[in-house]
Amino acid sequence: MLENESFFRGFYKLSRKERLRKIQLFCGLSEHDAKVLSGEVPIDPALAENFIENVIGYYPMPLGAATNFNIDGTDMIIPMAVEETSIIAAASATAKWVKEHGTIRTHSKGKLIIGQIQFPSVKNTARLREVVHSNRKELIDRANYFVPGLVRRGGGVRDISVRELSRGDGDGDMVVIHVHCDPCDAMGANLINQVCEGLKPALEELTGEKIGICILSNLVEGCLSVAEVIVRNVNPGIGKGIEEATLFAKLDPFRATTHNKGVLNGIDPILIATGNDWRAVEAAIHAYAARSGRYQPITEWKMDGADLVGRMEAPIAVGVVGGVTKSHPVSQVVLKMLNVKSSEELARICVAVGLVQNLAALKALSTVGIVKGHMRLHAGNLAYAVGANIEELPTVRERLALLLKQEKKIDMSMARDVLAEIRGQSSDGSRSNQFSIN
Ligand code: MEV
Repeated sequence: MLENESFFRGFYKLSRKERLRKIQLFCGLSEHDAKVLSGEVPIDPALAENFIENVIGYYPMPLGAATNFNIDGTDMIIPMAVEETSIIAAASATAKWVKEHGTIRTHSKGKLIIGQIQFPSVKNTARLREVVHSNRKELIDRANYFVPGLVRRGGGVRDISVRELSRGDGDGDMVVIHVHCDPCDAMGANLINQVCEGLKPALEELTGEKIGICILSNLVEGCLSVAEVIVRNVNPGIGKGIEEATLFAKLDPFRATTHNKGVLNGIDPILIATGNDWRAVEAAIHAYAARSGRYQPITEWKMDGADLVGRMEAPIAVGVVGGVTKSHPVSQVVLKMLNVKSSEELARICVAVGLVQNLAALKALSTVGIVKGHMRLHAGNLAYAVGANIEELPTVRERLALLLKQEKKIDMSMARDVLAEIRGQSSDGSRSNQFSIN
């Protein structure tokens, strides 16, 4: 790999073609891979028929690359499929700050996903417990019988446990069997669902009780990824501001929700680009954030002497094989860009980027505010929205950026006026130089 730091300096100023060329070199992509990313190799619309029903086309999403990440000592470029301005710029700038003054470290805790087999209304809970307990080994063997391929790859069902839930209506107990499974490098939803449904007849016969729902749980508490960021010798005012922002989120679920949304700004774009189920991860992270019974921020920042220390722990079940990840040509190239071979590595990158993205937001919010960064990039969106063509776009963007400096705001009507002005007429058709800034 090439030295990331100087190689990617000024990356954002390059043309799309030049950026792609750099990524191709850095990540060792083939010409064909680069063309898949640029769209020169089109995606066959018929492929979508394998993913969903009633296909009518594709919804193209911008794919960008965040720079300056060094995760666990390895320089990386982070592919992000996202529509929101500022996310990639903020991630790249903050990753640079961390890289220059600190570290990003990650690790994982466990790799077991959960399948649930629900007994809605159990007549004899003690007996059910006893039967499951004494047949534990047979049940695990039977479960693995439904996923022979997974067992061959070294994964499979590892354990079975029983949970009791109070129905509160006097109609017996609700009992749930949890099936704990190592899905190897798949996300595992289909595998665990097969196992749970497969076990149903034998379990009903064995227990004499009726089973209701069989489905995975997205709250994968046995599959946690952890990221820790340290930034050394932080300006005490900035550090204190970030610490205070964490406290605000801890005290107030309204703030915690937005705080966590900022974390997911870093995670979802990677999940989308790699063809992973981002709704599953979103659900898991929000549920984990509420595990104390109160919705909390999923990250924590505090000053340790002169250093700012951040931590995030989250349940992240992703896959690098199977499903869309395997069959979507762009996801395949994106995984090459990330150079990940296992789902564990991908999940660790997700928490690292989520934590850095959160740092970017908290740093901005507790210093200059979020509007500045957003609006600067938003100028391009406004220019496009009011109909600037490809030649006019840079000028409209530049003038809006200047107006933002002068007026501290920009909006559609200002963009319309700027466009009209460079076309030599005002937006109501008459000539005007209201926003002349030359
Ligand atoms: C915007 O997409 C995300 C933020 O609102 C996150 C936050 O407030 O922490 C900036």
